[in-house]
Amino acid sequence: MVQVEVFTTSNKKIGEISVSEDAKVREIKKQIAAISPKLPVERQSVRAEQKGKDLQDELNVQSLGSTRKIYVKDLGPQIGWNTVFILEYAGPLVLYNIIATQPWVFYGDIADESSLSTTALLALGCWSIHYMKRIYETIFIHRFSHGTMPLRNLFKNCGYYWGFAMYVAYHVNHPLFTPPPCTMQIVGLILFAVCELGNLSIHILLRDLRPPGTKVRKIPMPNTNPLTKLYNLVSCPNYTYEFGAWLGFTLLTSCVPAGLFALAGLYQMSIWALGKHRNYKKEFSDYPRNRKAILPFIL
Ligand SMILES: NC(=O)c1ccc[n+]([C@@H]2O[C@H](COP(=O)([O-])OP(=O)(O)OC[C@H]3O[C@@H](n4cnc5c(N)ncnc54)[C@H](OP(=O)(O)O)[C@@H]3O)[C@@H](O)[C@H]2O)c1
Repeated sequence: MVQVEVFTTSNKKIGEISVSEDAKVREIKKQIAAISPKLPVERQSVRAEQKGKDLQDELNVQSLGSTRKIYVKDLGPQIGWNTVFILEYAGPLVLYNIIATQPWVFYGDIADESSLSTTALLALGCWSIHYMKRIYETIFIHRFSHGTMPLRNLFKNCGYYWGFAMYVAYHVNHPLFTPPPCTMQIVGLILFAVCELGNLSIHILLRDLRPPGTKVRKIPMPNTNPLTKLYNLVSCPNYTYEFGAWLGFTLLTSCVPAGLFALAGLYQMSIWALGKHRNYKKEFSDYPRNRKAILPFIL
């Protein structure tokens, strides 16, 4: 057995635990939870150094080397990963539909329920399909490696998605909304449809990389689905397609708030994609060198 001293990341001693030589970090977390009931396993981030990196649950105690000290950071109250995603996606679906179908709530006297333009109806269809697809993927496709996330993410994520849903819906469904030229709408609609299918294709490919119940990570490679060929150019084609879909929606509606939503998403996804791209190169020595992170040939 190995005696391990447990400290908080502010260097306050919590206590001592003893684990077997071949125990995993997961076992350490269980023991910490036993001596400190305020720190259930999901709230803990265990590190080998005070300011070190989070240690994965599967890591063996032996790989910590001679260290007999570990540090635990309290991640705060947690909430189920799926719960956050479902709530953050159900909100935009419901709110957008309310604004489109009950215009009097928002526009008062100038609203006329029969006045939704064909473009606004198409936009309503695209918006609804997108968020129903996301809820479907969260429940039936993604194999996440985390069970929970900090509770504050729920408020941050819902604020972002719900806020943008109302902002975009208010403008697209406005009684004074003017649709763009027909050709632009058709281009937007086709781009939206192709990118949604592309995004779904990548999510299915990522699901198939990971055996059920594991946290395995592999290098994603294109398969027989032509929409996955984007992996030849970027590390996160699901993000590229996501941006493409919102660009299509922006062309369809010619609406500034929709464009801002597309750009805000691109900004956030670019930060994540650059991080994932860096990690792929660090984790896999044979990682394809020619890929960019999110925008082919650019970023
Ligand atoms: N509009 C916006 O602002 C916006 C922003 C972000 C995301 N989104 C949408 O939400 C979707 C999901 O986002 P995300 O950030 O969760 O995508 P992601 O990080 O690419 O992950 C998607 C799923 O694939 C798994 N995965 C990723 N790389 C893997 C690998 N190399 N091997 C095995 N499994 C792997 C992930 O597991 P882990 O749990 O291990 O990561 C997760 O279950 C995006 O594709 C996009 O459509 C939209």
